[in-house]
Amino acid sequence: MLHLNKLNFNYGKLKTSKETKEKLKIISKKFEYYCNQIFDLKSNGENNNNNNDLVIVELKKNFIKNILCYDKLSIDFCKSILNDYNKNAYLGMDNPNLMIHLPDDIMEEGRFHYDQTGSDEIVTIWTPITDYNYDALAYYKVGALIYKFFKILKIEKFLPKKNITVNKFESIEWSGYFIHKGCLNTSKNISSAIVVGLRFSKEDNSNLIYEDFTEDSIYYNYKITLEFINNLINYSKNKNISTKEKFEYVEKKLKSMKFSINQVIVAKIFSVVAQRLHRNSEIQNNFENLSFLIDMSSYFLDKNNYSSLTRLKKTDFFN
Ligand SMILES: [Fe+2]
Repeated sequence: MLHLNKLNFNYGKLKTSKETKEKLKIISKKFEYYCNQIFDLKSNGENNNNNNDLVIVELKKNFIKNILCYDKLSIDFCKSILNDYNKNAYLGMDNPNLMIHLPDDIMEEGRFHYDQTGSDEIVTIWTPITDYNYDALAYYKVGALIYKFFKILKIEKFLPKKNITVNKFESIEWSGYFIHKGCLNTSKNISSAIVVGLRFSKEDNSNLIYEDFTEDSIYYNYKITLEFINNLINYSKNKNISTKEKFEYVEKKLKSMKFSINQVIVAKIFSVVAQRLHRNSEIQNNFENLSFLIDMSSYFLDKNNYSSLTRLKKTDFFN
């Protein structure tokens, strides 16, 4: 594990074609439309008056993320990027991901990490679909091995940190062991980037799915999901309820709901909301029970949702 590839230590700029740029423009327009016209997503400062608002903002963000990433347009964008990439690579296993950074949104500020999973060499391609009026990312130029060594000694903060400035529609790339994090949005505008994973594997293992979302289907599915989450918020306030009872409650509620979009996508939305609330609980200890209930909901809709499954395994859920 020597990680000699220079993209494990530094990012690079990726030149993309006119076709890719055209697709990015449409994704960007759709993003703005969803934020402004459908979900009325404002900056945290305006929405985040109390805990319930914070949960609803997370739900909105993750709805927008997932309806864009499971849109055929995003699949076409991935294929176009792959075409631009003149090395032998395949698309990663999952759909692209979308980052949404609201102003001062601590829920979105990342931690230093690397993207590598599995043994194939991977590349992450990160492209802003809005302006970034702040340094979007930060990284350590030392590579994963030295970073890990410093981290074990808990002295990683002494490593020289560098920031990355990005431009709308201009893609950057890095490899699996590049140590990076998303920075806190210190500007006044919502910022967003689309993230595509490529894999240098022997065969194509990509499994990208998409759905034809209509405005009606978005409104309908958001409405019933919002109602469900509001129920969970109230239910999570009850004390002394066993895990079994909680799951029965979630199961009963979800069985009566008629989603008109793929349940795997709804599970993904729930899972990321649960992850954000879980993380917030580590800081403020507010959402432990609610994020547990949302993870159960994600599990009910998609038994293979990896991150909900991983968190549930750390609880008494499977006992
Ligand atoms: Fe990352």
